[in-house]
Amino acid sequence: MDTTDDTRQLAARLRSVAEDAAAGVGPMLRSAFRSGVRTEKKTNNHDLVTAHDRASEESIARHLFAAVPDSRILGEEGGHRGSGRIEWIVDPIDGTSNFAHGVAFFCVSIAAALDGELLAGVVYDPVAELMFSADRDGAYLNGETLRPRAHATEAQASIMTDYPSAEALRIDGRAGLDAFAELVDTYATLRRKVSAALMLAHVAAGWADVTLGLDTNPWDVAAGALIVRRAGGSYLPFGYDDGARPAHEAPCYVAIGPGGSAPTAVAVVERLVAARRRAGYTRG
Ligand code: IPD
Ligand code: CA
Ligand code: CA
Repeated sequence: MDTTDDTRQLAARLRSVAEDAAAGVGPMLRSAFRSGVRTEKKTNNHDLVTAHDRASEESIARHLFAAVPDSRILGEEGGHRGSGRIEWIVDPIDGTSNFAHGVAFFCVSIAAALDGELLAGVVYDPVAELMFSADRDGAYLNGETLRPRAHATEAQASIMTDYPSAEALRIDGRAGLDAFAELVDTYATLRRKVSAALMLAHVAAGWADVTLGLDTNPWDVAAGALIVRRAGGSYLPFGYDDGARPAHEAPCYVAIGPGGSAPTAVAVVERLVAARRRAGYTRG
């Protein structure tokens, strides 16, 4: 890892830019939340988008390009724009389904990468006003350094996951329900929270011990993965062969807080990924 002062300073600056961009959409998201948000279907009934997702991404993109002109953006709603060296990976609302249904568990997720390596990440919960972030030096919550400690045994540990989604059940069939049952039975408690980025941030804060996802996209996990790692936890990618690609591009992951261990979660993901491979499914 390049730890030169220049890179550390750049990472700290990108973190601050991302924090400002995320905080900037806070008032808009708070006033829209629980105000009768209209939804549109994206790919299916479970995959929703709102005008606020697009407005949030536009505002964030404007802020990022103005603050760091040498930028390019990969956004969930707007795709690729710009061609600068700093790559921003943006999910303008992660947890749109919660946002649209009036459930206070959604966030803005912004990561910054240089040459494929994550330098900074921000996950912002605008309702609780929680700004999780990371740079080269550490992970923070509202500016305070995060030093979590996960429960050591699975029997004591909490796990957060959305698995299995309707789509996952179509792919994995009965094995998906068996995997879910095994997770429910093994961990002290399982929560289905439906915002990958915020679940990762909760692991980084020590409010959950483990989280896992299958069929994820870079904008769901890039910022949260860095925050978990900088908080001392692990982010383990699964379901991709190319070791040269960054972990946040993998379609499946398990993240574990420092001091924790999650052999069941890892075994479940490995088993599902192997079954998908055997069935010729290409994303994990
Ligand atoms: C979703 C959330 C969810 C994950 C889905 C994502 P969105 O993102 O991150 O936790 O399980 O795969 O699509 O649609 O709310 O931005
Ligand atoms: Ca998302
Ligand atoms: Ca989204």
